[in-house]
Amino acid sequence: MRIIRTKDYAEASAVAAELMAAQITLKPDSVIGLATGSTPCGMYANLVEKCKNGLDFSAVTTVNLDEYVGLPAEHEQSYRKFMNTNLFDHVNIKPENTHLPNGMAEDPEAECVRYEALINSLGGVDMQLLGIGHNGHIGFNEPSDRFVCDTNCITLTARTIEANSRFFSSADEVPKRALSMGIRTILRAKRILLLITGTDKAEILKKAVYGPVTPEVPASILQMHPDVTLVADADALSAL
Ligand code: GLP
Repeated sequence: MRIIRTKDYAEASAVAAELMAAQITLKPDSVIGLATGSTPCGMYANLVEKCKNGLDFSAVTTVNLDEYVGLPAEHEQSYRKFMNTNLFDHVNIKPENTHLPNGMAEDPEAECVRYEALINSLGGVDMQLLGIGHNGHIGFNEPSDRFVCDTNCITLTARTIEANSRFFSSADEVPKRALSMGIRTILRAKRILLLITGTDKAEILKKAVYGPVTPEVPASILQMHPDVTLVADADALSAL
């Protein structure tokens, strides 16, 4: 794992955007795996600026990690809406080349199979962006006694619901389930860009990078991947 230490969130966002832009420049038809959450917002803002300055998304395809079950695309807190607002609406990507799991699918299990097949049909992910949850989740793969491999329907833990309730008017409104790429789906990406900032992520980052590889800390599986670049600010690295 390469570790790039930055002084703060702004620098981490800029560095992560540079790496993503380099991927797109080197392979204009890259398949990019994308993530949501507060952490990548600054990176997306940097990518929007880069697009204004010539970075070309016209041949890029994106696949997002996850989506809430039961939120329509136009819901303010759906991950589709998040992606449109933070990135897709401001760059020259073709809307039909942007993919997220369909949280409104009548049959969530069938939707997981469809999404997994879609990623395979695209030839896999060239660069996957990841954040980390406070409990070590990646995508929505929550701590468990086993690694869940393929795209699957996940029941969110109380901690994740609590963490994400800041975006809703109450914890009761946070969907209880989500569709998420599985651990094997994520690990099949050729490159992984892990972006982690803030003191509140310091302890879990330490466990993920230096602790045992265990499904109790899903992000620890990244120790097994041959090409991970961690971009983290000094706060996130403060426990190492
Ligand atoms: C969410 C997403 C993850 C994200 C994580 C951290 O639940 N499913 O993909 O990495 O939470 O989010 P944040 O960056 O807001 O801390």
